[in-house]
Amino acid sequence: MLGNKLLRGNLVYLTANTIDDAEQIAKWFNDLDVSYWSNYHIRLVNTEQKQQRLKQFWENKNFSFAIRTIAEDRYIGIASLDAPDWRNRKTMLGVTIGDKRYWGQGYGSDTVQIMLRYAFLELNLHRVHLGVFSYNTRAIRAYEKIGFVHEGARREALFRDGQYHDMLIMSILRHEWEARYIYQNSQ
Ligand SMILES: CC(C)(COP(=O)(O)OP(=O)(O)OC[C@H]1O[C@@H](n2cnc3c(N)ncnc32)[C@H](O)[C@@H]1OP(=O)(O)O)[C@@H](O)C(=O)NCCC(=O)NCCS
Repeated sequence: MLGNKLLRGNLVYLTANTIDDAEQIAKWFNDLDVSYWSNYHIRLVNTEQKQQRLKQFWENKNFSFAIRTIAEDRYIGIASLDAPDWRNRKTMLGVTIGDKRYWGQGYGSDTVQIMLRYAFLELNLHRVHLGVFSYNTRAIRAYEKIGFVHEGARREALFRDGQYHDMLIMSILRHEWEARYIYQNSQ
């Protein structure tokens, strides 16, 4: 039984985003070190624009979460699931650890694990997919480690630094996730 641990991992837990988070989110995405890895369009945004974006996100029935560390209760990033396609039981995952000090230490993987658990065990979805820029080897490694499978690429979908890059599509199905996690956890 997960009980109230549903949105809690080993390093992070997830809470609701609030409109006040817009200021911090704008700061993260105005940092080119962050947006380079995750944004199709690099542009500077102000707090009001991010507030609007958050509102649109909620109106569209997406699920958005604030990522907070368990150890220090620090707000370090955001994670989201697009409004699910309920008929086909699928959605798209997005995750950004905005606080760079926390990169490469397992916080992102821990977040993705919680998001998958929420998607499969609470929302009863069947498939979660994501898109990742081909040069984002840290993110690709994190997703592969969790069990995401490469599906293919949107060829030369991103123009960055004066050249085109592929957008890789990766996904995980519920039975693949269950085979890795529920089975292992019951041993
Ligand atoms: C992508 C992101 C969510 C991953 O979270 P994270 O906490 O940094 O990653 P983790 O520590 O959980 O896992 C990263 C893995 O890649 C490895 N790695 C780190 N840097 C790497 C690099 N440059 N190339 C390849 N692998 C790398 C790590 O060693 C780790 O693997 P390991 O556990 O086998 O050692 C986070 O880095 C982030 O938000 N980055 C900026 C925005 C972004 O890229 N968002 C994703 C868009 S699809």
